[in-house]
Amino acid sequence: MGYENIRVETRGRVGLVTLNRPSALNALNSALIAELNTALGSFESDEKIGCIVLTGSEKAFAAGADIKEMGSLTYMEAYLNDFITSWDQVSRARKPIIAAVAGYALGGGCELAMMCDFIIAADTAKFGQPEITLGVMPGAGGTQRLTRFVGKSKAMDMCLTGRMMDAQEAERSGLVSRVVPADELLEEAMKAAEKIAGFSLPIAMMTKESVNRSYETTLAEGVRFERRVFHSMFATEDQKEGMSAFVDKRKPQFNNR
Ligand code: HXC
Repeated sequence: MGYENIRVETRGRVGLVTLNRPSALNALNSALIAELNTALGSFESDEKIGCIVLTGSEKAFAAGADIKEMGSLTYMEAYLNDFITSWDQVSRARKPIIAAVAGYALGGGCELAMMCDFIIAADTAKFGQPEITLGVMPGAGGTQRLTRFVGKSKAMDMCLTGRMMDAQEAERSGLVSRVVPADELLEEAMKAAEKIAGFSLPIAMMTKESVNRSYETTLAEGVRFERRVFHSMFATEDQKEGMSAFVDKRKPQFNNR
């Protein structure tokens, strides 16, 4: 498929999506989101893909929802068309997905990065939920996910003042997993993705599902869920292979079975 707002590549077992609307700092309009969903869907169903990386440009991961497209929306249009719900597909991806963020990740851009499994940030990254400056509030999970990432005080600060957080503050606060020099961002994200894609895909997917469960349930239920999934792993060939390879002092050959 020909994409106009994103670039899509396959590098080994890693699927790479680059947001590509440079004239609008990768502002997220409906055409871009539709293309992103199509690309994600094809990576999800491609058994050769073990991990996905989502990135933007040097200047912007994404400067938010497209204000020019959204500005004249009426309440009825927003309600009847369930505006924003289709954006959630990233958060529903079953394969691991890493956000590699340089420059601005604002509003919907910050929310999109938070829908990924973890965020690797360039030292130039700037995160923010500036919606309040536009007379709205975050609408793609920002008030919920940011609060879970950084806690109530900082989330309130970010959402109520609209200020930006630099990469160092984002790392200190737990919003990003690591900060790397800007010119190494993609290389570092690809390295992490290749590492993940080299493991057993079903095991990585079950691991992701279990970590995510911790957001949805109590500790006791979460631990019970983990135990069930952990037990089920002993039914996989990859568990036998991983443990035999350790004992035989050789590299495991996972077959995603
Ligand atoms: C539409 C945008 C845009 C956006 C930037 N542009 N952000 N267009 N929607 N979110 C466009 C500008 O209009 C401009 O187009 C071009 O991109 C370059 O932007 P500049 O402002 O000239 O760049 P700069 O001076 O470097 O400032 C960068 C910036 C600023 C600080 C990131 O662009 C900015 O504040 N953008 C808006 C950020 C924001 O408020 N995001 C939240 C959106 S609301 P022209 O044609 O003039 O060259 C949101 C709601 C989410 O995300 C809720 C549900 C998803």
